Amino acid sequence: MAEVIAVVNQKGGVGKTTTVACLGMGLAARGKKALLVDLDAQGSLGICLGYDYPEKYPVTMVELFSASVAGELDETNAEKAVLPYGENVDCILSHRGLTTLEFALLKVEAPSHKLAQVLSQYQERYDYILLDGPPMFGLLTMNMLCAADWVLVPVQAEYLAAKGLEQMLRSISGIMKTENSSLRILGILPSMVNDRTRDARDVLKLLEDTYGNSIRILPAVPFSVRAKEISSRGKTIYQVDKGGKVTGAYERLVDIVLESCGKEAPDV
Ligand SMILES: Nc1ncnc2c1ncn2[C@@H]1O[C@H](COP(=O)(O)OP(=O)(O)OP(=O)(O)O)[C@@H](O)[C@H]1O
Ligand SMILES: [Mg+2]
Repeated sequence: MAEVIAVVNQKGGVGKTTTVACLGMGLAARGKKALLVDLDAQGSLGICLGYDYPEKYPVTMVELFSASVAGELDETNAEKAVLPYGENVDCILSHRGLTTLEFALLKVEAPSHKLAQVLSQYQERYDYILLDGPPMFGLLTMNMLCAADWVLVPVQAEYLAAKGLEQMLRSISGIMKTENSSLRILGILPSMVNDRTRDARDVLKLLEDTYGNSIRILPAVPFSVRAKEISSRGKTIYQVDKGGKVTGAYERLVDIVLESCGKEAPDV
């Protein structure tokens, strides 16, 4: 059975897509089978992996979600949706059609559990399923949190972004109490941190002081100009900058994922 990790934050541009892509590559490099699933109508995960026009693919998350809403999930479509990206890494794309689908979801029974139905078709074939969320808290994010075992929240090391986390964490805790009692918070991931600035150091301290008692503050991902430039070239910073500081930070995240939610986790 795959461990499902949802990467969410209603704030845009905090590193969700980069984290899903780099964590996926890192897990694959350690021999784990990873499925990366885009749940953002912007289609950024696919674009970041080099699928520039996700809407041209016949089966994406849009079709899988529609089938789930209509009660018509079938194996052939489940198969067609999976695109092999590299050794041990597959992905499922999304595109702007997801926006319309969110409205359709409002009319069905148990609208937050449709993604879980879709993913159940892939559970046996992967070690990890990583979900890349949209920059808003709506039914898609609810679906992610209902389908996930773990949630990971990247946050930019800026004062307002760190303050804005409170609402996101309250929503997550609401889902844990009502819809998915087995959901666990993997941690808060400070992203794009320039630790040479006092401001970034203050924000890291603020995160530690505010949430550190109850939630793990993961090792920060440093800011890198190279990471900023690489986003639309079909490869992740993890792949193109092997010895770099961003890759190093994601390697540490891979270690934590393997320790905390992998098959190698010791019994506690
Ligand atoms: N460590 C980093 N250093 C510098 N730039 C980064 C880093 N990580 C990501 N970026 C860049 O920041 C931008 C936003 O990152 P990303 O797309 O991963 O965020 P997101 O939260 O998925 O955004 P959205 O909410 O729009 O989906 C991208 O241009 C990306 O290349
Ligand atoms: Mg994104």
